[in-house]
Parts: sequence; C-alpha cells; structure tokens
Amino acid sequence: MPVILAIESSCDDTSAAVLRDRRVLSNVIASQKVHEQFGGVVPELASRAHQQNIIPVVDAALREAGVAKEEIDAVGFTRGPGLLGSLLVGVSFAKSFATALGRPLVEVNHLQAHVLSHFIDRGEAVPQFPFICLLVSGGHTQILLLRDYFDIECLGTTIDDAAGEAIDKAAKIMDLGYPGGPIIDRLAREGNPQAFHFATPHIAGYDYSFSGVKTSFLYFLRDRLKEQPDFIEQHRADLCASIQQTIISFLIKKVERAATDKGVRQVAIAGGVSANSLLRTELQRICQKHGWQAFVPPMQYCTDNAAMVGIASLFKYQHGELADLALPPYTR
Ligand code: KG4
Ligand code: ZN
Repeated sequence: MPVILAIESSCDDTSAAVLRDRRVLSNVIASQKVHEQFGGVVPELASRAHQQNIIPVVDAALREAGVAKEEIDAVGFTRGPGLLGSLLVGVSFAKSFATALGRPLVEVNHLQAHVLSHFIDRGEAVPQFPFICLLVSGGHTQILLLRDYFDIECLGTTIDDAAGEAIDKAAKIMDLGYPGGPIIDRLAREGNPQAFHFATPHIAGYDYSFSGVKTSFLYFLRDRLKEQPDFIEQHRADLCASIQQTIISFLIKKVERAATDKGVRQVAIAGGVSANSLLRTELQRICQKHGWQAFVPPMQYCTDNAAMVGIASLFKYQHGELADLALPPYTR
C-alpha cells in the first residue's frame, strides 16, 4: 500500500498530508491569519507565510502520521491553479524533498483534488461513476460530470465571479470580516431568508454569473443606508440569510437540472463553499426528492487541504503518471 506525502500551497493555506493508500494518516493545515486585516488574500504575504510554514507543517504531518521519511513512496503537490508565489513554495519544496529522498513526484490539479476528496477512505460509501459534482470555492464554480477519476467534463462554469467570491464580497460590504463565507453561514441561521430579494440572472445552460448579484446587493444597501444609517446592524441576520439563500438556490437549481438532464443519480459537492450549511441541506433535499444519492464532504476536506491532493496523487501514482522535475506551476 503506497505511502504518499502531499503538499498544498495554492492560496492561503499551507497544508501537508500523509496517506497510506486511500486512508489519511495526517492532514495538517496552517491557515494564514495575516490576510484578515486586509479583507482578502494578499499574494505577497501569502507566499512569505508559506515559506515560514512549509517545513513545520510537513514535519508535523510526518510525526502525526507516525511515518518516517524513508517510508514515503511518492511526493504529490498542487501544481495549479492558484497564486504563483504561493504555488512556487509548495512546488519547489516537493521537488527538493522528492529528489533528496530519491522518490517520484506527482503533480495535481487543485480543482481535481477538491473533487477527488470524495474517494478518501472514511469507511463510508464513495460515489460511483458517472456522478455530478458541484465544485464551489473562492476561485471556482463549476458543474462537473465525472465518468472516471480523470475523465471529467465541465458542464457549466461561472462567467464572472465564483460563488465563494460573491459571498465573501457580500460579507465585505457588510464589514463582517474575512473570509466572509463561514461568518455569513453562522449569522444566517438567525435570519429570515425571505426578508430581502436579490435577482439572479438568466444564464444559458449550466453556466453561472454572480457579479450582478453582488452589485444588486451593494446598490440595495447603498439606498437603504441613505434612509437608515444603521440598516446593516438592524438587519444583519436577515441580510445574511437572504443573500445566502439567493446564491445557494441559484447554485442548486442548475445542479438539479444538470443531474436530471444527464440521468445521473449521484450528486456531490466539493470546495470551500461545500462547507455551507444551507448548500449541504439543499443538496440532501434535491437528492431525497429525486431518489438520488448525495455526497457531502466532511468539513476538513471542504476548504483547502493536502489530503485531497494526496488522494489525487495516489491515483496518478498508481497509473504511473509521474511529474518531471522541470515542471513549472500554472496559475490558471
Ligand atoms: O476551497 P477554498 O478553501 O479555497 C479556494 O480554492 O478558493 O474555498 C474558500 C471559499 C471562501 O470563499 C470561503 O468564504 C468559502 O470557501 N467558505 C464558505 C464556508 N466556508 C468556507 N462559504 C459559505 N459557507 C461556509 N460555511
Ligand atoms: Zn480550493
């Protein structure tokens, strides 16, 4: 059973994981707090923080797994997409570590890793091909049809902002802090999702668009604040519940349509926004309605983590898809 060391450093989380076959032995994540004061990820600061975190994080992952360096069979890393300076830290570390150990390297696409996190062995059922996966994060929003681990068709994607980005921007407009997704999720529990209505655009097929939703939220608040300067404080929970409802319903409607049209009976969600409590219950709801099977990742595999890179690396390693030492990262 192969032992994989995996590295993730595409954005603002430095993470290392050790897997023995499909089981995760450790998954250490250092989240960078430095960006909070800026209300978003500052690329320059992210790469510096990765540089500080990478060795302690790998060290902790190996110790927690109880695995010696010599037991590692391959080193997997996120090659892209992501921030160049952030990726360079993980990519360079993985290359050096693999070279020093005399072990092969495996490069992984960050988005595929999010989706393949469903195949981590947790002693539970895993999706059967073909299945549909809604991949929703701070940088991506896609409806994917998986026919095999690496046979993935993109049925639809956002034509502008990602869903997570729209949620984070709504939080920023209300001055709630960063990242806004988990904050809006928490505050929305106390609010009325029907209190306010924000239009979602009609976009053809399975594509999405979120920039209009964000703008209508901004203009709505601008108008209300003119009349009532403490409007946000007075209606915070309702605003959170309403914008969350708008974005999540838009997401789920197209997923429901895609699964119906494709005759697929298994539907999964992945990526940071799959941690959202409303999205999780909405997925369960549509799956119950149609008699489909829902796959919701555990919280630790929703946002960025190296365990998902590990499972994707394992599959590639088993297929003999090894990476060259000269491979550069890619940002898009
Ligand atoms: O996958 P991820 O960690 O990084 C990217 O690859 O982008 O996703 C981060 C995104 C952020 O936009 C964050 O606000 C969002 O996931 N997020 C959530 C929740 N937890 C994280 N959005 C809504 N509800 C949540 N509970
Ligand atoms: Zn991600």
